[in-house]
Amino acid sequence: MEFSLKVIRPAHTKSDCLVIPITQGRCLTPAALVVEQSSSGTLQRLLKQGDLGKENGKLLLIPGLEGIEAKRILLVETGADPLNDNRFRAMVRAMTQTLDNLPVKEITCALGELEVPGRDGAWVLEQIVLTLRETRYRIPKETIDPAPLPSWKSTILVPPVGLSTKIAEPLVERAQAIANGTDLTRDLGNLPPNRCTPQHLAETAQSLGKTWDCKVKVLDRDAMEKLGMGALLAVAAGSHRPPQFIIMEYAGGKSKARPLVLVGKGITFDTGGISLKPAPEMDEMKFDMCGAASVLGTMRAVAEMKLPLNVVALIPTCENMPGGGATRPGDVVRSLSGQTIEILNTDAEGRLILCDALTYAERFDPTLVVDVATLTGACVIALGHEAAGLMANDDGLRAELQAAGDVSGDRAWPLPLWEDYQEGLKSNFADMANIAGRPGGTITAASFLSRFTKRYRWAHLDIAGVAWKSGKEKGATGRPVRLLCRFLMDRAGSKG
Ligand code: BES
Ligand code: MN
Ligand code: ZN
Repeated sequence: MEFSLKVIRPAHTKSDCLVIPITQGRCLTPAALVVEQSSSGTLQRLLKQGDLGKENGKLLLIPGLEGIEAKRILLVETGADPLNDNRFRAMVRAMTQTLDNLPVKEITCALGELEVPGRDGAWVLEQIVLTLRETRYRIPKETIDPAPLPSWKSTILVPPVGLSTKIAEPLVERAQAIANGTDLTRDLGNLPPNRCTPQHLAETAQSLGKTWDCKVKVLDRDAMEKLGMGALLAVAAGSHRPPQFIIMEYAGGKSKARPLVLVGKGITFDTGGISLKPAPEMDEMKFDMCGAASVLGTMRAVAEMKLPLNVVALIPTCENMPGGGATRPGDVVRSLSGQTIEILNTDAEGRLILCDALTYAERFDPTLVVDVATLTGACVIALGHEAAGLMANDDGLRAELQAAGDVSGDRAWPLPLWEDYQEGLKSNFADMANIAGRPGGTITAASFLSRFTKRYRWAHLDIAGVAWKSGKEKGATGRPVRLLCRFLMDRAGSKG
């Protein structure tokens, strides 16, 4: 998908489809105004007839108009309510879905002329690219009858008012990088669990490292045993597929600058282990590596954007399977930190692989650590599918991540992480148990992790509710790549 920027003359622009926003009853954007004048009132007549409808995201496709050179015009309604982030994205989505079913090779999109309250032109431009790419994503389905490639290959964007094409061009490229990272995350998540194995994640990291000039190291089971990653290894014990510990380093910052560390949960399939999950929807536990996938996608985007930061990705990855060698409820293991853990439920495995990765993070002397994990079903109950759960041992970091989620539309919402929640994790047989009771399950999981993150600023994103969709639309969403990219872009000081 190609994007280019061009200030157009709406009446004299040759295009397969010219996309124009309409705000009925309010003033027309520059492009709409020109179309209206050049078509000697046809536009107004159609609007008066009520052909467009007054709801946000309603569309009217006009097959050619006298006085206009574009082959078609697509009108997109902003709606009666004031425009906001979601309504703007809905317009881009509606446009994309309609055009995807038409034999167009190119479109010229003037939705960027709209003003979204509280947002600037750079935001509008980025959201058009991201939302369009998100809508056009297709699952790489394994089939003997592959769908034909879409004909629509290029999009010409009319730059937002007051934004020169020179300033806008790098913004579009950055948005493309974020979309590329998001697509990678979705592809990995959507792969079936017999394909997306720990080894596949390791190979993906290695090939990313080659393409994007990152250092990649993968620890095998022996190396993990030598280090003492007893918690991670306990989860891997039931599977014939060997665990992998992926370390990926992007060095875009000053050589001595302390890195930011991203940690992603990479359970390529979560059966629950001996504490076996019930059968319904168990297939969705192939998405239990979406934290890892989002960290890899973010690394790809960061490298393509060439952000002036040092970023380290740590990905503990394995399967959680029952079997003759599997860990039992009641087993006690020693984590890399030295702290011992009584594993009361083998289905609380995410925290076990993460705790060793979080301890490993210490050796990078990080400025901060963010982990991303499909950690608890309780988080889906608490926040639904709208926001990721956000917990941190640092107020500033939590606020930064929440703000990045807000701007990017990939939202996270805070939950408390008070000392009080530690109580339930007490064990008579080890330093801690791996589960507390049912109440506050998302918070007690994070409280468990917090015992391994005392030496640095840390935040935790529970993405159990947002990483994938169920039902007819089943598939990975690519969240929270946008949030993480926005956070890192802000950190790099390249706001906009
Ligand atoms: N991967 C699951 C969490 C999950 C479940 C995410 C359903 C999305 C949908 C995680 O490993 C898990 O099984 N967590 C348990 C923890 C419990 C045993 C304390 C859970 O949430 O039920
Ligand atoms: Mn589990
Ligand atoms: Zn899991």
